[in-house]
Amino acid sequence: MRSARPAIGLPARFLVWDALRLPELGDESDTVLDSGLFHVFDDDDRARYVAALAAAITPQGRYYMLCFSERQPGTLGPHRVSQQEIKAAFAPPDWRIDAIDAVPLDTNMDQVGVHAWRASITRNERER
Ligand SMILES: C[S@@+](CC[C@H](N)C(=O)[O-])C[C@H]1O[C@@H](n2cnc3c(N)ncnc32)[C@H](O)[C@@H]1O
Repeated sequence: MRSARPAIGLPARFLVWDALRLPELGDESDTVLDSGLFHVFDDDDRARYVAALAAAITPQGRYYMLCFSERQPGTLGPHRVSQQEIKAAFAPPDWRIDAIDAVPLDTNMDQVGVHAWRASITRNERER
């Protein structure tokens, strides 16, 4: 575990942690940024990751994600993900998809950026 506080005075905690074990932190966040993690998981771990996010994001909290899209040719690198797979993973009642946009994602694979999806997703209120 590493921790640090930035000079601007806002409290922050930096951790090296398994994203599949987020609930074990006993903490909730209102915003989660995912750059290139969702697309590394296979189907089983994808489901575990989404369940971990559901437990770790506050109701009405937001999850922003960048992942390779199925429009990206070839097989080098992470899984290609379709919009339908994103919608299936983040389905009601736990989630609401606010937007999925096609964007270029800068990587060290080429000079132009790969085809990617940028998804904005809201954690719905938990049912009582
Ligand atoms: C495709 S890289 C993206 C790296 C960086 N976030 C970026 O945008 O360039 C995926 C990263 O996810 C990390 N990773 C894979 N499984 C993980 C897990 N279960 N928990 C936390 N990080 C994980 C890998 O170590 C790797 O650094």
